[in-house]
Amino acid sequence: MKEINAEEKYVLPLSLLRTRGNTSVVPLSWEKHILYLLDQRLLPQEETWLTYRSVKDVEQAIRDMVVRGAPAIGITAAFGMVLAAYGLKDKNEGLFVEKWLEKAAFMLQARPTAVNLKWAVERLEKLVREHYKMSPSNLTSILEKEAISIWTEDVKANLAIGFYGQDLLPETGGVLTHCNAGGLATGGYGTALGVIRAAASRGKEINVIAGETRPWLQGARLTAWELIRDDIAVTLIVDGAAGFLMQRGWINSVVVGADRIAANGDVANKIGTYAIAELARANNVPFYVAAPVSTIDPFIHSGDQIPIEERGPGEIITFAEKQIAARGVRVHNPVFDITPHHLVTAIITELGVLKEPYGPAIYACFS
Ligand code: MRU
Repeated sequence: MKEINAEEKYVLPLSLLRTRGNTSVVPLSWEKHILYLLDQRLLPQEETWLTYRSVKDVEQAIRDMVVRGAPAIGITAAFGMVLAAYGLKDKNEGLFVEKWLEKAAFMLQARPTAVNLKWAVERLEKLVREHYKMSPSNLTSILEKEAISIWTEDVKANLAIGFYGQDLLPETGGVLTHCNAGGLATGGYGTALGVIRAAASRGKEINVIAGETRPWLQGARLTAWELIRDDIAVTLIVDGAAGFLMQRGWINSVVVGADRIAANGDVANKIGTYAIAELARANNVPFYVAAPVSTIDPFIHSGDQIPIEERGPGEIITFAEKQIAARGVRVHNPVFDITPHHLVTAIITELGVLKEPYGPAIYACFS
């Protein structure tokens, strides 16, 4: 385990990520063929950077949620596949391609719901297939450049999402977000939190209401930490309080991220999102989804085709490694849900704001 200063290692221009004078946190760093990940399991108590030199360890880090959040998983997987290429550099061309593709298939299994992982690995795979005759060393350099592009493009997409999205937020009021769709969940800056950061930079007086996001507590641990770091007002609630706050008029908008968006606009996001969307509709509160086009899966017609990850019971029956639930209780732990498109007021992407009918709007993003 090695501690590093993220800002020293960061390869993107930090000036891009400033909000109110602070720099948005980033979840990863890549330097001299080594990947560093900020261990999100330990935040906010500890800021520990872990060092990764092999694709196998990167795949495990994604599974274990050292890094999480759809775009961050995609970028990390891409660097993992660059590490795979480095490990195979002394093989001949044929063997390099064969072994690299095996490792890519393994990486694709790390987490099933966030499409960004598949999208990023397939982007590198296309290059491997196109350049299968190239020397492994040259092909590795091409893959490394592509992984860095995937990262930088994501940050730029987040900045554009912020630019388009901030207009939709009120000048003043409560904005509910769920889970963490911030710098930690992306290449930096964030999607839902990018919109909030951009609105705050423009002087909007927003109080972010962060749902704690049981069981992993991305809201309580990560979103609250990021916003406090950025000096943006944030109030933590238990997930079940969202409806009451809407009834009382304390939530004026909802903005969340996404793990996968189907071609019809159905949205997979952290478990609990669907309930919030129904409550928003019942209380006349706009419900926005902020996500880059890399989170849209144009090959999936509707949300019921999106694979939903189930995680182990330990996340629910224990708290801080202590048993809290009755011993012997059965547990069901789906970690994402599907919000049907008719509950989504708009999807904010780097290409602009999409509205119903989502089918043609999404189709236009790919043409
Ligand atoms: O299980 P996680 O923490 O990876 O889930 C993350 C979310 O659901 C986020 O809201 C989503 O990925 C959007 S991230 C910009």
